[in-house]
Amino acid sequence: MMWVAGNLPLPPVLHGPIDLPLMNIAPKSSFVLSHRHLLGIEGLSAAEITGLLDLGEEFVSLNRQVEKKTASLRGRTQINMFFENSTRTQASFELAGKRLGADVMNMSASSSSMNKGETLVDTAMTLNAMHPDILVVRHHASGAVELLASKLDCSVINAGDGTHEHPTQALLDALTIRRNKGRIEGLLVAICGDILHSRVARSNIILLNALGARVRVVAPTTLLPSGIERMGVEVARDMREGLNGADIVMMLRLQRERMNGSFVPSVSEYFHYWGLDEKKLAYAKPDALVMHPGPMNRGVEIDSIVADGAQSLIREQVEMGVAIRMAVLEALSRNLPNA
Ligand code: CP
Repeated sequence: MMWVAGNLPLPPVLHGPIDLPLMNIAPKSSFVLSHRHLLGIEGLSAAEITGLLDLGEEFVSLNRQVEKKTASLRGRTQINMFFENSTRTQASFELAGKRLGADVMNMSASSSSMNKGETLVDTAMTLNAMHPDILVVRHHASGAVELLASKLDCSVINAGDGTHEHPTQALLDALTIRRNKGRIEGLLVAICGDILHSRVARSNIILLNALGARVRVVAPTTLLPSGIERMGVEVARDMREGLNGADIVMMLRLQRERMNGSFVPSVSEYFHYWGLDEKKLAYAKPDALVMHPGPMNRGVEIDSIVADGAQSLIREQVEMGVAIRMAVLEALSRNLPNA
């Protein structure tokens, strides 16, 4: 029906949002992750890790274009369940799913029925009954994501579980390193700070070892898990020794929310001995690059001059987070029923 006011035709009334067509820009890589879930880096082969990095590289280019949306997850439903705070991971999984054309729902733990006594498994089973294709889960308990994966029909992605693993963080870190150094094999990566409570450290150690890097953990004894050497890492207990010859200096946050008791005498003392400033960075190679998974505590584990300086890759890591999460969603979805 044509609406007119006087002699002027009016534009048609729009009901709801405009449904823009999704561009069908298929990545060249046909890599398929042949696992149903991504629960950790542990269990992935070097070829699978490289396949995800190559796919992520393609999405970096797509994300820099004006038109970023593709159609490969059109019709798929992705639910993000975050039971722990997040900025980077939750936002990038949401953007990644939307850019691939999926219907994305964010479930807030603070307003879920778990506050009325429902268990994690019952909450997840309830969502499962709505037939999502992919569930992205962050939880404060190590192993919680694996437990859910064993009960649900859909694909489950670990967005960080306790002190266990944060696989997409390690993948985005690897993509960032590879883009800046041209390789991972043979590099010396120093991972510094709160290794004991860090799922990021665990996932990175497994990934970097799988791709042939040399990994050194650098921390006070109180923040090192006993027997860490068995993960195939060198151990240093001061920053001068730990950063000597490093190509990459990866700083970790002091994870005070996971600490029971006192692991460091004081924040100022911690920064004095373990915080990365320009003086300590000079112990590493002159072309060393600085990374941090975020969120950063400036003046605790890293000085602002270094965090914002020319050797810092911290903002690039965030950009790679969207690309690598698109790669993981794409590679898992190619294995979904009716894909
Ligand atoms: N690196 C990381 O996991 O950051 P968020 O906690 O903000 O997701």
